[in-house]
Amino acid sequence: MSETSVYNPVARAMHWAIVLLIAVEFVLAWLMPDVRRDTQPVGLIAWHIGVGTSILALMVLRLVWRAAAGAPALLAGPVWQEHLAKLVHGVLYAGFLVLPLLGWANASSRAWTVHLAGVLSLPALAPAGAAWAHELGDVHQFVAYVLLGAIGLHVAGALYHAVVLRDDTMHRMWPRRR
Ligand code: HEM
Ligand code: HEM
Repeated sequence: MSETSVYNPVARAMHWAIVLLIAVEFVLAWLMPDVRRDTQPVGLIAWHIGVGTSILALMVLRLVWRAAAGAPALLAGPVWQEHLAKLVHGVLYAGFLVLPLLGWANASSRAWTVHLAGVLSLPALAPAGAAWAHELGDVHQFVAYVLLGAIGLHVAGALYHAVVLRDDTMHRMWPRRR
């Protein structure tokens, strides 16, 4: 496989780092206590916010990097598969920018200070007590599960290439050792 058809090392590192953080983030979401009126952002909830804001920051860096360094063209295949792959990639990029912002706005409505990676305090996205931002808590949860479905489709596509078609798609993101 030629060098230009493999994702560059920075793009690969960010893809797999984000995969890992998203897996951790869902586990934290399932383990953390239910968020109620008097809940404070401590313990697993603080971890959920710290990891979630890190995902947001990495997604922004990843898109900036993609715009600057580019990405290899998709491998040729049936047109509908190319369209589906591009659509799912678009949903994942947009979704993992919007999802943390929804959580952040909800946290702000609860008068919580949101810290990037648990360290750097960020501005509020909504006024404390804002009803619309409070509602976004449910939207945040709903969008998280829609994106879990999109990840399922994406992973199924990757496995289809690796196991059934046995083409080089997986090695563009996880190169073979020479
Ligand atoms: C990719 C990043 C994120 C993912 C995958 C994610 C996922 C989730 C999921 C699945 C839930 C529902 C948990 C349940 O089933 O009970 C949830 C709840 C919540 N998340 Fe996130 N989250 C992310 C980022 C964030 C960020 C950045 C914040 C805040 C800055 C945040 C704040 C919250 C809050 C406050 C709730 C409770 C909402 C409510 O019950 O009203 N999340 N998150
Ligand atoms: C175990 C899970 C995963 C596997 C095996 C996997 C595999 C891959 C592979 C092989 C590619 C390259 C596709 C191609 O050559 O066209 C890719 C691209 C991509 N993956 Fe994943 N992936 C996984 C999880 C995720 C997750 C959780 C996200 C969520 C953000 C994600 C987002 C993307 C995006 C946006 C692209 C397109 C990259 C671009 O063209 O800029 N992946 N993935």
